[in-house]
Amino acid sequence: MTRVPPLPVSQSIDSLRKARCILKHEGQHASALQTVAKVIKSIDGPLGIMITKHPRMTLTTAFIAGILLTLGFKDLYPYLKRRIRRQRWRSSPSTTPASVLGEGTRKVTLEDNSASNHLEVSISDISEGIGGCIGDTPLIRIKSLSEATGCEILGKAEFLNGAGNSPKDRVALSMIQMAEEEGLLTPHSGDAVYEGTVGSTGISSTFYPAPWILLKEMNSAHTPLIISCMPDDQATEKSDLLLKLGAKVERVRPASIVDQNQFVNKARSRAAEHTADPSRQGRGFFADQFENTANWRAHHSSTGPEIYRQCGGHLDAFVAGAGTGGTISGCALFLKPKLPNMKVVLADPQGSGLFNRIKYGVMFAPTEREGTRRRHQVDTIVEGIGINRVTANFEAAKELVDDAIRVNDEQAMAMARWLVEKDGIFVGSSSAVNCVAAVKVAMQLGAGNRIVTILCDSGTRHLSKFWARAGNVGGKADTKLEDVLNAGYEQ
Ligand SMILES: Cc1ncc(COP(=O)(O)O)c(C=O)c1O
Repeated sequence: MTRVPPLPVSQSIDSLRKARCILKHEGQHASALQTVAKVIKSIDGPLGIMITKHPRMTLTTAFIAGILLTLGFKDLYPYLKRRIRRQRWRSSPSTTPASVLGEGTRKVTLEDNSASNHLEVSISDISEGIGGCIGDTPLIRIKSLSEATGCEILGKAEFLNGAGNSPKDRVALSMIQMAEEEGLLTPHSGDAVYEGTVGSTGISSTFYPAPWILLKEMNSAHTPLIISCMPDDQATEKSDLLLKLGAKVERVRPASIVDQNQFVNKARSRAAEHTADPSRQGRGFFADQFENTANWRAHHSSTGPEIYRQCGGHLDAFVAGAGTGGTISGCALFLKPKLPNMKVVLADPQGSGLFNRIKYGVMFAPTEREGTRRRHQVDTIVEGIGINRVTANFEAAKELVDDAIRVNDEQAMAMARWLVEKDGIFVGSSSAVNCVAAVKVAMQLGAGNRIVTILCDSGTRHLSKFWARAGNVGGKADTKLEDVLNAGYEQ
């Protein structure tokens, strides 16, 4: 039998000293620090002298030291785990940090024996500023749709992201961090973020730079000025909110991507003008959510893994619309390799070209090509999803999209009303489109399947447009699911 030589006491002390230095340097975990200090003190002091004078006592001493070491590492362990996680995150800079997304929470069960009841508390359940409220959104069982279809229809409540109340919280964070890492954006330098955002006609995704502003609270060093270019026919709630939050908003008339005044092109050129102007401080950084792959990577590193974990690794279909394509691509790229039989289905509003792209490999009929129509590129009242070009973010996983379902405006409005009436869930237009498509997928797959879709934002962001058309809820309590699915097709 090979004998493992005992670790010399001096070496144990050295390791503990090192651990103490790391903890001190990081200024973390007071209780671990105290325990380590106690261990060092006891071995270093009388215990150490005793070992030197009475070598026979080594065995007893080693036993005692073992107990003390175990106590020390019991306290050290969670800290080291977090440290390793953080290091891992740093080594893949294009992902959203686990700490920001709320991981690393240590659950502790306190037992009250006298009352024989359990109380679950979390030591680190305090969020680090508003940025700490991004991600880890709930997965909601939509009872009415699940009962009506016999499938389990689950909605990822992205409107509960704590900063800007949409999945773009994750994306904004990812893009800003990547830009800072690449030296494209420097805090306190006068640099400003420019973005083309929110297209109510459907060309663009709905994007709220608001999280960037709110993120200032997370770390006051992050203070870029947001200049947002958006089409002027989108719901005014969003631009009002941006102005309130201190952003500058330039509303432009809806135009095709081939037009230099189109909102994304406008944001790009405004950023370039800023950089080129010597009289202005800092540089202009064009975030470019449509083509910037930090977008899908944010969903790949957070939304996808969350869904997988929340479903215990069991889901049969993932359904989502695409504006930039970041959500569907990031989630598909994470989920598909783990669940090759899972279907990825695109939910596409009327007028969008992606449905045809997925179904038939072509984007549109020549008469519908982007740039040929004067006003609305995507003729729908739905905001945030639907587009007539393949973006880099959609391209990233388009081969993983198995099917597409087209949803018309009437169906979307009927579904939005249904969700309030039956489940008390008040969402915006893209979420309603997603739910209609999820129901259709459930009907195709048959009872017993589990389908996950995205609840993107709240109906409060759509009061003046989508909900103004959808009308008030109430009066018709016996709506059937067929009524929702047949909406827009009645004689
Ligand atoms: C309202 C809304 N709908 C849909 C989406 C889906 O977007 P994307 O394809 O850009 O990930 C978003 C993204 O923020 C959104 O805010």
